[in-house]
Amino acid sequence: YQTVKKAREAGQINHLIRKDLNKVVDFIDIEDITEKASLCRCWKSKNWPYCDGAHGSHNKETCDNVGPVVVRHKQQ
Ligand code: FES
Repeated sequence: YQTVKKAREAGQINHLIRKDLNKVVDFIDIEDITEKASLCRCWKSKNWPYCDGAHGSHNKETCDNVGPVVVRHKQQ
């Protein structure tokens, strides 16, 4: 069982966020985004679903290059 568990965990991207759920889904109302919102794509943020900069240390440790998606209003 430990081997299966380890194999599953090794393939997982999410090691932190709401592990008690089958699927993590978040809804953000567009109207609530005043200027812009940076959404985490590295699954390391402690302010999920928003980016808190944790991707920086992840990238340093793993030589990865992930970062947030920034949702913003169209530039006029
Ligand atoms: Fe995850 Fe920034 S903390 S993308």
